[in-house]
Amino acid sequence: MIKCAVVGATGYTGIELIKILLRHSDVELTKLTTRQTQAIPIHQLIPTLPADIQIEVRNHSVQEVCQAADVIFLCLPHTEAMEAASVYAKAGRTVIDLSADLRLHDWKTYEKWYGVKHIQKALLKKAIYGLPEIYRNDIRSADLIANPGCYPTAAILGLYPLLKKRLIDLDSIIIDAKSGVSGAGKKPNASTQFCELDENFYAYKVGRHQHTPEINQTLSEAAGAQVSVTLTTHLLPLDRGILATIYARRKKGVKESLIRDTFFGTYEGEPFIRIKPAGFFPSLKDVQKTNFCDIGIDVDSQSDRVIIITAIDNLLKGASGQAVQNMNIRFGLPETQGLQVW
Ligand SMILES: NC(=O)c1ccc[n+]([C@@H]2O[C@H](COP(=O)([O-])OP(=O)(O)OC[C@H]3O[C@@H](n4cnc5c(N)ncnc54)[C@H](OP(=O)(O)O)[C@@H]3O)[C@@H](O)[C@H]2O)c1
Repeated sequence: MIKCAVVGATGYTGIELIKILLRHSDVELTKLTTRQTQAIPIHQLIPTLPADIQIEVRNHSVQEVCQAADVIFLCLPHTEAMEAASVYAKAGRTVIDLSADLRLHDWKTYEKWYGVKHIQKALLKKAIYGLPEIYRNDIRSADLIANPGCYPTAAILGLYPLLKKRLIDLDSIIIDAKSGVSGAGKKPNASTQFCELDENFYAYKVGRHQHTPEINQTLSEAAGAQVSVTLTTHLLPLDRGILATIYARRKKGVKESLIRDTFFGTYEGEPFIRIKPAGFFPSLKDVQKTNFCDIGIDVDSQSDRVIIITAIDNLLKGASGQAVQNMNIRFGLPETQGLQVW
């Protein structure tokens, strides 16, 4: 049994992780932590759990977590996570960090986009970017896994096959993405209040969303050349899910059939990628509460643009589901363990 701890267990990604890990047959969930000093009974946090599950969320103690767990999932806000990652990595634990703190290779890029100092720069060189469909081999031996962001997961999976084979112009990519409000985390803020969101729909962080460099970094690695995307993010009046509509100009002479075949070839055998038949496109209802990424593809022959539509659940394939997928890969377990829902 793999002994797991969730640090920052009371937030949205923490709660999803608890639910997955409790039904995972190779995991013993040994520690759940909070900043709060008073212990929280698990049924207070997740009332739907079976009554016989007896575990509490307790004040974070590094010593207790190290004693109890081999794998530590960090579900903390960015900047908080890097310090914890450093402590647990030094203690020889396997760390899967859901925050953005370890995702970018270059600390200057992190500081520019996140507006805070990176105080654990050495970790950036050690961390493996945990997108299984691209970095599976590296993940198998990683002790420090930077779990991808939700928008980057939706965007990168929709573009990776075409960039790897260089079937689209690198300077032509536009990602128009929409997220449910759980993507913003549990901490309330003015723009995620019910009255602002209900019956509303709007773009935010236009031209400056912090996930842009993460997408550029991974797509540049895939293409072997610098890629700079335009990313526009929107907030949907929904709980969960991301739908990304991606546009890119196909290279001269590239046929639609080659584009489709490239997607099918790249993702053949991937347990969590579902490519739609021609003429069909993803919808959020099909992926909510699952670890799937659905992908639909079309080519507009008038403009020579490829249109790719991807959909994920931001809390699962975009966060906690993908984190467990990474753990499964790292420990040689079936990749779908704990993640099979229908
Ligand atoms: N939400 C998503 O869709 C999503 C997707 C991908 C990645 N992520 C990333 O995953 C991490 C966790 O996200 P989340 O949505 O679960 O966030 P969240 O709902 O805000 O939860 C974060 C938890 O961290 C704890 N915490 C510790 N120090 C904190 C501090 N200084 N300020 C606020 N909370 C603190 C809090 O628990 P206590 O108050 O009990 O201590 C809180 O419940 C973030 O880095 C986020 O960017 C989120």
